[in-house]
Amino acid sequence: MPAVQIRPNVYWIGVNDRTTDLFEGIWPIEKEGVSYNSYLILDRKKVLIDLSKALKTDEFFHQIQELTPLAELDYIVLNHLEPDHTGVILTLRQLAPRAVILGSGKMQEMLASFYKITENVRAVAEGEQLDIGERKLQFFNAPFVHWPETMVTYDASEKILFSCDAFGGYGALEGTIFDDECRNLAFYEQESLRYYVNIVAKFSKPVLNAIAKLASLEIRIIAPSHGLIWRSKPGHIVELYRKWAGYATGPTEAGVTLIYGSMYGNTEKAMDVVARGIAGCGLPLNIFDAARTHVSYILPSLWTHSGVMIGAPTYEGALFPPVLDVLNHAAIKRIMNKKAAMFGSYGWSGGAVRNAKQVIEPLKWELTATLEFTGYPTHEELAKAEQFGKTFADLLRAG
Ligand code: FEO
Repeated sequence: MPAVQIRPNVYWIGVNDRTTDLFEGIWPIEKEGVSYNSYLILDRKKVLIDLSKALKTDEFFHQIQELTPLAELDYIVLNHLEPDHTGVILTLRQLAPRAVILGSGKMQEMLASFYKITENVRAVAEGEQLDIGERKLQFFNAPFVHWPETMVTYDASEKILFSCDAFGGYGALEGTIFDDECRNLAFYEQESLRYYVNIVAKFSKPVLNAIAKLASLEIRIIAPSHGLIWRSKPGHIVELYRKWAGYATGPTEAGVTLIYGSMYGNTEKAMDVVARGIAGCGLPLNIFDAARTHVSYILPSLWTHSGVMIGAPTYEGALFPPVLDVLNHAAIKRIMNKKAAMFGSYGWSGGAVRNAKQVIEPLKWELTATLEFTGYPTHEELAKAEQFGKTFADLLRAG
């Protein structure tokens, strides 16, 4: 895809990645893809903001060279050092040797340790303005959105915020780079949420700090380094991020994430009637088979909803491992303060509930009720299971 002009002399330079199966080596993007967006400003000084993963490097450099020789770049701004945005830096260093690399002080340290680049690198100060001709660029630290060195770059004349990971999302760009040209906005919103919870959620407080810090800027365009450029409603993605970040400590949406696993169908049989009990109350309900659904797709529901129904048998005296794996990921992402309930087939020793408590108690999940049965659930136990789901849903609805 060739470069796209965003504003006069400001260009999107980007690479669509549809071949990486796991983002960060963890999160599936096989179906959805992802884009690595960078931006070129051609003023009296020529500035490249953020780079790309080392993938399709010919395409990436060719896009730039169509507009300016690489050797004529004056500045390379590295808002963030994660290799999805810096994977080509060693090659670019050779091709643009006179360009000064700009970033936060922490970036300067990390560039030396990650890439052994120390020459022609300058740390910018918080709020510093860089005169590049007709316009000035201004830099603001945004630590831990996503790494400690992260900052954002603001073009005050065009009112563009180059926000790097902030306000980004999964999803390869499908012929358009702008929100107002996109025919499938719901997909990008959903994939922005999945990206937020997979990548950024643990740093929700820094996200809120960054949003507060940037609140006084007039922003006409949000240009992140993944996903769509938000030019028709830049406030929309900011509000979504603010809402999602608020879920770290504040109230979430009433609804149930039902995570279950089943070895021979007994727990699943109970799950179907527990689900019926919940659904009958009209609450949103998302059901995930933990053994067959990557946790990447389960975490957004856990993050945004108030209730968790855990359905799992005892396995070797402990919680069924695929379900335990989901709860462990919830712990890693610090998904806190849920109301929970748990049901499942007991086996001969039990142990699933005890094991689940070990994980969820530190997360301050309130285990409101449990329901266990030996082997397959009887007719009477299925009736209890439906009531069990209904009682939990009623509890959530009551707040
Ligand atoms: Fe898109 Fe934290 O890198």
